Amino acid sequence: LLTQQDFAGETVLITAGPTREELDPVRYISNHSSGKMGYALARAAVQRGARVMLISGPTCLEPPSGVELVAVESARQMYAAVMARVPECSVVIKAAAVADYRPLVRAEGKIKKQGDLLTIELAKNPDILAGLGQLQQRPLLVGFAAETADLQVNAAAKLAAKNLDMIVANDVSQEGAGFNVSTNIARLLFRDCRVEPFELMSKQELAELILGRVREL
Ligand code: PMT
Repeated sequence: LLTQQDFAGETVLITAGPTREELDPVRYISNHSSGKMGYALARAAVQRGARVMLISGPTCLEPPSGVELVAVESARQMYAAVMARVPECSVVIKAAAVADYRPLVRAEGKIKKQGDLLTIELAKNPDILAGLGQLQQRPLLVGFAAETADLQVNAAAKLAAKNLDMIVANDVSQEGAGFNVSTNIARLLFRDCRVEPFELMSKQELAELILGRVREL
């Protein structure tokens, strides 16, 4: 009741968590995303009055009350879920860790143990954020960049290549930052080349800061 309703009237789509790319009925390729960053953003946005659609890969988290949760597994399912809803949105924030590749073939049955080496061919997944950046009528777009080296250079390249308004760069090799922790260390990069570095803080605090910058934009 006491939170400023500065997102009232806005529809915000947030992606969170990992994707799973199935190899066979029992195995998949994925990553260490817990969903905490995306869920913190969803919680902050709904408290600030937004209608929030949370497109989430598999996580162990309870969705914040008041958000519209759409559960997906693979990158291609996330792509379809995002694209179907984007016309309704004024802001999209992509905190999900989407698998860049999936197994070219998903085996019908469990892959049997064979020799000492097993080679799996991978096919490129669609880049959801880059697809959003190409839309003629696109919402305000915020991406994340998970890096282990050259944080700012790589994040700036993604901001430009995907046609974003802002990117949240996190060096996931730093302690207390990135995957599966409750804190993060982020650097915000904007289209006008401004860079705002932040110290370690909780993901909930960072979510509030990100939304504050989104509001200004
Ligand atoms: O979930 P947590 O445990 O809280 O961890 C948070 C986090 C580390 C996952 C988060 O802070 C983060 O950095 N998310 C982005 C991870 C990532 O996939 O980064 P990337 O640099 O590979 O991708 C850049 C951007 O493009 C991201 O916004 C990503 O969602 C998007 N993308 C990537 C590939 C793809 N096929 N489609 C996409 O939309």
